[in-house]
Amino acid sequence: MLPWFKNDAFPLYLAPMAGVTDLVFRRLCKELGADVMVTEFVSAEGIMQADERTRIYTEFDDAQRPVGVQLFGADGPRMAEAAKKIIDWKQPDFIDINFGCPVKKVVSKNGGSSLLKDCPTLAHVAESIAKGVGDRVPVTAKIRIGWDQHLINAPEVCHILEDCGMQAIAVHGRTRAQGYSGEADWEVIDQCSRAVSVPVIGNGDITSGADVARRRATTGVSGVMIGRAAMAYPWLFREAKEYLATGLVPPTVALEERWTFILRHARLLVEWGKFPGERYAMQSLRSRLMAYTKGLKGGKFLRQRFSTVSSVAELEDLAAEHLDSVAHLEEDDADDSETMLLVDPT
Ligand SMILES: Cc1cc2nc3c(=O)[nH]c(=O)nc-3n(C[C@H](O)[C@H](O)[C@H](O)COP(=O)(O)O)c2cc1C
Repeated sequence: MLPWFKNDAFPLYLAPMAGVTDLVFRRLCKELGADVMVTEFVSAEGIMQADERTRIYTEFDDAQRPVGVQLFGADGPRMAEAAKKIIDWKQPDFIDINFGCPVKKVVSKNGGSSLLKDCPTLAHVAESIAKGVGDRVPVTAKIRIGWDQHLINAPEVCHILEDCGMQAIAVHGRTRAQGYSGEADWEVIDQCSRAVSVPVIGNGDITSGADVARRRATTGVSGVMIGRAAMAYPWLFREAKEYLATGLVPPTVALEERWTFILRHARLLVEWGKFPGERYAMQSLRSRLMAYTKGLKGGKFLRQRFSTVSSVAELEDLAAEHLDSVAHLEEDDADDSETMLLVDPT
């Protein structure tokens, strides 16, 4: 059994999110209590060509362990080669195979969720990687519940993946056709967890510690994976742990602490040195800043200002201004309808 599931640990995974869960954000979420990390997906080809961007996507530090590197592709033997290469480079704690990505660019090359409707190829990919990697590191998979409402086959797919040697399976409770619309179907996730003996990690729409506790109590999942809610409110990991331990809902994180976190995020991103300069780092942070405004007083004001922010100093000034003026802002200014990035940017 993977060590992070031992003793009924019920790990909280940070969901892989392209353009979001980079080295810096993973580090911050780890500090806030996320147990297991998965890098955003990288193409097997990118790894084979030692592409620089791919290297950046897969970077992690030891404090983030256990960390998995997520691969997508449709050519099993080639993906196995890529998996071995990434193990040589980084020695991740596991390799994760993406069978859930709905994005056209991936699906049109028969990667991601397209394999949910081609189980023989899915099995070939999973088996090739598991055999290729051998006992160097465990291999896991992430799937959706099916291709569309007419093909909800996740329990069967979980069986296949277990037979192919996957040591844990994360199930996002939506079909490929749903994208991010509708609600995650936790009944199907539960069926998956009861269909196999390897741990199933439930994923979809978790936004509070109470959600985590409810899914733990009412399904057979061995852990949960949190994505979009962590993007807006990474303290969720800490709060979920507290809720699981005590049954109490901690008070929402104060504005000062939020700003300290946001400024640290910005500084770490700039220090990381993966952008040609501070300006580029801050530009790439803008959409992330927008997500942090969800539910905040003065959110509209902040979003306007975030759309042009281009230095840490500017962000510091903005923090001071916001903290100073927030007492005078209207409660209903916390409109956050456009803050959640529901669309995978890849
Ligand atoms: C911006 C964004 C990028 C994503 N990128 C990936 C990815 O690279 N690999 C993957 O398996 N899933 C990816 N996902 C899906 C998430 O891992 C997760 O399954 C989904 O958001 C549902 O969980 P949630 O309701 O907690 O957000 C992405 C989702 C979002 C919103």
